[in-house]
Amino acid sequence: MTEIVPMISEQRLAKKVKQLAKQISRDYKNTTPLLVGVLKGAWVFMADLVRHITIPVNCDFLQVSSYGDATESSGVVKIVTDLKCTIENRDIILVEDIIDTGLTLKYIKDYLSLKRPKTIKICSLLDKPARHKIKVKIDYLGFKVPNKFVVGYGIDYQELYRNLPYIAYVKLDKTE
Ligand code: IMP
Ligand code: MG
Repeated sequence: MTEIVPMISEQRLAKKVKQLAKQISRDYKNTTPLLVGVLKGAWVFMADLVRHITIPVNCDFLQVSSYGDATESSGVVKIVTDLKCTIENRDIILVEDIIDTGLTLKYIKDYLSLKRPKTIKICSLLDKPARHKIKVKIDYLGFKVPNKFVVGYGIDYQELYRNLPYIAYVKLDKTE
C-alpha cells in the first residue's frame, strides 16, 4: 500500500503563497505581468497565488510532457498545449510546481525566450536542490524539499493526490 506522509501543512502553504504574491505585486507594480502556469502540476498553486496578487495580471498555461522514463526527467520535453497569448515584449512569470533536475524548466525557458519576451522570471512552489543536474535560478521560491517524491496541492503520483490540500511525500519503500 502507498503510504502518504504529511510534509508541508495547509497553513504553511497559505502563508508562503501570500508572501510570494506580495513580493510579486511589489516587483511588478509598474507593469502587467503574464503568469504562465505549467500544467498540470502548477494549477492549484497558481490559482491560490493569483488571488493574493494585488496588481493586474494576465494568466496563460502551457502543458508539457516529458519523453522517455516517466519518473526521471530526460530534459526533452514536448509542448502538448501551447500558450494562447503573444508574449513578445511581455514580462513573464513562469509558474512551476516543483524543480527537480531543472531540465524541464530549462527547456521551457529556452522555448519561451525564442518568442522574445521582455523578461522571464521563475516562480516555483517547491525545489529539490539535491537533484539539480544544471544550474537553476528560481526568482520566487516557496520551499526547498529533501529528495523525496512529493504529492499534493496539484502535484501527483500516477495522477493521484493532486487534490490533497497539503504537501506530503510518498513512502516508496520502508527505509524512507
Ligand atoms: P525536472 O525536469 O526533473 O526538473 O522535473 C520537473 C517535473 O517533474 C515537475 O514539474 C514535476 O511535474 C515532476 N516531478 C519532479 N519531482 C516530482 C515529485 O517529487 N513529485 C511529483 N512530480 C515531480
Ligand atoms: Mg511541473
